[in-house]
Amino acid sequence: MQKLNLGFLASHSGSNMLAIINNVLSGSLQANLCALISNNSSSGAMEKAKAAGMPCYHVSEKTHLGATAEAIISIFSSHNVDTIVLAGYMKILDKSVIEHFGGRVLNIHPTLLPKYGGEGMYGINVHKAVIEAKEKKSGATIHLVNPEYDKGRILAQSEVDVLPEDTPESLAKRVLAVEHILYSETLRKISIGEIIIP
Ligand code: GRF
Repeated sequence: MQKLNLGFLASHSGSNMLAIINNVLSGSLQANLCALISNNSSSGAMEKAKAAGMPCYHVSEKTHLGATAEAIISIFSSHNVDTIVLAGYMKILDKSVIEHFGGRVLNIHPTLLPKYGGEGMYGINVHKAVIEAKEKKSGATIHLVNPEYDKGRILAQSEVDVLPEDTPESLAKRVLAVEHILYSETLRKISIGEIIIP
């Protein structure tokens, strides 16, 4: 078993990060909660990380003009992060960061990739597109991050039904509930070697 040293990047509410924190605190996931970096100083993610006592940092083009990638590398390295968890991070991650951490960068996407990924496919847009296409199933995907949007190797997926009466909001809620389970489950499988990442 390898106890993962997790570094989070999040921009908004941080509910996926919180689900992971809670699983670590309850002992159902063996990992170290090293640090959160957010590009948004007033994000829910920042509040949640602070409340959990996890070191948090604000790194954006405002705080680190032209040097956000260097800042991310330096902060995560100083906390011995070995695995980066993107949890609703709305910025493109520079490839220098991915390379520095040897490709151990995970993301969660609220569809069954490769469907409904790529540019513009975020937030409620994603669920609108799924409903408009009359899909019967949607879900969540955990994948490795590479420099191409939503194109890295898929590590795990979890399906939900799309119901006839669904609105984008109701579907988003159902998908988010499975995201909260899937992320920790995938990290647990990585830590016990059941899922292999670089
Ligand atoms: C999730 O739906 C995730 O799939 C996507 O961004 C959203 C983040 O939600 N990448 P939260 O901030 O974890 O609540």
